[in-house]
Amino acid sequence: MVKSDPHHGAPRPRVAILISGRGSNMAALIKAARLKDFPAEIAVVISNRADAMGLASAGVEGIPTVTIESKPFGKDRSAFEEALQSALEAHRIELICLGGFMRLFTAEFVQAWYGRMLNIHPSLLPSFPGLDPHGQALNAGVKVSGATVHFVTPETDAGPIVMQGVVPVRDDDTPEALSARILEIEHRIYPAALRLLASGRLRLEGTVCKLNGNASSTDTLISPQPASKE
Ligand code: GAR
Repeated sequence: MVKSDPHHGAPRPRVAILISGRGSNMAALIKAARLKDFPAEIAVVISNRADAMGLASAGVEGIPTVTIESKPFGKDRSAFEEALQSALEAHRIELICLGGFMRLFTAEFVQAWYGRMLNIHPSLLPSFPGLDPHGQALNAGVKVSGATVHFVTPETDAGPIVMQGVVPVRDDDTPEALSARILEIEHRIYPAALRLLASGRLRLEGTVCKLNGNASSTDTLISPQPASKE
């Protein structure tokens, strides 16, 4: 019996997830990619730290893992990237998802992967890039925050935006509470953004990423809730 194949036999692009720690976004991507109709395959998880917790959970899921400790390379980013590039080639990787990967790349590496490397950041970029985005959001007093999936460019937490998810910020929020609320959104938008990229729905127009076919959201969020129906 011929099984129905949602991809019509076309090989799905092979994805590497790069992590440095917990790996909860990695886990969300692995889970989504198990769905029959998901248009990409998670082929390897690569960590730049041997103690990254995500390595164990990837192993349990049966995903091959590679550790390339970045510390011994010190400031020699190119040498680290050579080792990384070799691992990516060995696993025939076409797309990269950074999931809490805490190592900066050279402009050359980013250029080589431009349009094929995604990152997720827990703020509504271009607001609050870099460290402690939740603390930055609370200090700024914004009433909504969220998460952003974007193509990677040489600047940290910048690049054409693929997808954003929004959550309310509460007056009594702590960085931990806000982080937990945003993390739930991260786990929803990262697989959704990878799905769009892997199925060829995205196009880059300069610094802006646009979608082929209409899928704009109809939801709105007002925060805090207005007291009356003005
Ligand atoms: C996530 O919140 C991700 O958005 C953030 O690191 C965390 C990693 O968690 N990334 C950045 O801040 C990038 N500048 P995870 O390891 O559980 O996915």
